[in-house]
Amino acid sequence: MPPQRIQFPPDFLWGAATAAYQIEGATRVDGRGVSIWDTFCGRPGVIEEGASGEPACRHYERWAEDVDLMAELGLKSYRMSVAWPRILPEGRGEVNAKGLDFYERLIDRLLAKGILPNVTLYHWDLPQALEDRGGWASRDTAYAFAEYADQVLKRLGDRPLMWATFNEPLCVANAGYGNGSHAPGRTVDPKTLNQVIHHILLAHGLGVRAIRARSAQAKAGIVIVPVVPYPYGPGPEDGQAAEDHWQAENDWWLLPLLKGAYPRRIWDLKGKDAPEVVPGDMESIAAPLDWLGVNFYFPTRVRPGSSPLKPQAVSPAGVETTAMPGWEIYPPIAERVLTEFTRRYPKIPLYVTENGAAFEDPVPDAQGRIRDPRRLAYIRDHLASARRAMDQGVDLRGWYVWSLMDNFEWRFGYGKRFGVVHVDYASFERRIKDSGRWYREVIRDGGFELPGA
Ligand code: GCO
Repeated sequence: MPPQRIQFPPDFLWGAATAAYQIEGATRVDGRGVSIWDTFCGRPGVIEEGASGEPACRHYERWAEDVDLMAELGLKSYRMSVAWPRILPEGRGEVNAKGLDFYERLIDRLLAKGILPNVTLYHWDLPQALEDRGGWASRDTAYAFAEYADQVLKRLGDRPLMWATFNEPLCVANAGYGNGSHAPGRTVDPKTLNQVIHHILLAHGLGVRAIRARSAQAKAGIVIVPVVPYPYGPGPEDGQAAEDHWQAENDWWLLPLLKGAYPRRIWDLKGKDAPEVVPGDMESIAAPLDWLGVNFYFPTRVRPGSSPLKPQAVSPAGVETTAMPGWEIYPPIAERVLTEFTRRYPKIPLYVTENGAAFEDPVPDAQGRIRDPRRLAYIRDHLASARRAMDQGVDLRGWYVWSLMDNFEWRFGYGKRFGVVHVDYASFERRIKDSGRWYREVIRDGGFELPGA
C-alpha cells in the first residue's frame, strides 16, 4: 500500500487527557480532604513500589507551566478532572473555597489560551468520609455527588465548558468493588455490585440535573470504557460469548443512560442479583446528554465461560502488547467500537476521551529528544482506524490522547508511562516526546500521512 493521507474535519477537537489524582500531588495542601486513593495506596503491597498520588507530577504547583505546554502542543481541548475531596473535604457539607479557587484559576487560564476545558467530576477519587459511610454501595453517595456537582457548577457554570459526570463507571464498580484492584479495594457480592452500578448511574443522572440547573452553556456528558470483545476462535459459541459480553458489560450501562432501561435479557440472567430500582430512578438516569465519551485501549478475546454473564477472557500467545500486561495492540478496535456505538445506541455526538499507550521510554538523547516510535505508531494507527469509522457515518467530534504527560498509573505506580510529554520524577521537568511533537503536527495540519506497507 502507498502512503495514505488521513485528514480530519477542520473543527475536530484535538485534545489530551489527565486526571486529578494522577497528576496533582499536594494531597494535604489547601484543605484537601482524604480520598479513597490516599487510603488505598497506604495499604502495604497494593501499589507497585509503594507509590501513591503524592507527589505525582506536582501539577498543583506547576499548573500554569502545564497550560503553557498544552498551548505549545496546540491542543484545542484539555480533559481534566476535579478532585471531590478538594471541594468538599468531608464529602458533603462544608465547602473548601481554596479547592474551587484552584480549578477556577486553571480553567480561566485554559480559556484564555483558547483551550476548551472538558472537566470530569468523578475520576475515581471519592472522599474517604463517604466511603466510611458505605461508598457507592450506599444510595446516599448518589445524592452527595449531586451536591458536589452543584457546588462546582455554582462556581464555574458561567463558563462555556464540557462536563463529564463520571470517568469509566465500569471500572469504579468492577475494579473498586468487584475484584478490589482499585480503591476502595472491596470485593462485594454480585447483588451489591449491581447496586453499586445502579447508584453510580443514579448519581450520574442527578449530576446532569445539577449541571443543567446551574449552567445553560454546559455541554454535559459521561465517559464510558466499553469492553471490546472479539471471539477467540471461529466457532459460533465464541461469537455468542463475545456478543453476550458486549451486552452484559456495555449494554448494562449504556441502555439505562441512553434509553432509560436495563437490558431485559441481562436483567433476567442476573435474576435475584438484579439491583433494587426506586420508581423515578430510570428517568433520572436517562437525563438527555449532549455528548458521549468513549475510552478504549485493547481488545478482549473471549470464549464461553461458566455463564453468558461470565465469558472466559483469553490472552492469545505471541501478540504484540504495550507495557501494560496483556494489553494487546489491535488498532481496528477504534473503528469497531465507534461503528458499534452508532449501530446499537441512539445517536449522540461521540468523542474518544482516552486512547494511548504505555511503553518503556529511552532516556533523553544528547539533544534531549525522547524517541518513542511505538507510542507514536499506536496513536497514529488508532486515529486512522477511527477516521475509517467516520467514513461510515460515525459522528466523531474529537479525540483526547491518554495522556498529556506521564503520571501515576494507579496500581502500577510511576513505572508505566503513557505521556506524550515525559516527566522527570526527580526534577519534575517536562519534555515533549517524539510522539508529542508528531501530535502537535497532526493538530496543526488536521491530519497525517499513514506510511505505506
Ligand atoms: C482510565 C483512566 C486512566 C488510566 C488509563 C490507562 O480512565 O482508565 O482514565 O486514568 O490511567 O486508562 O490505564
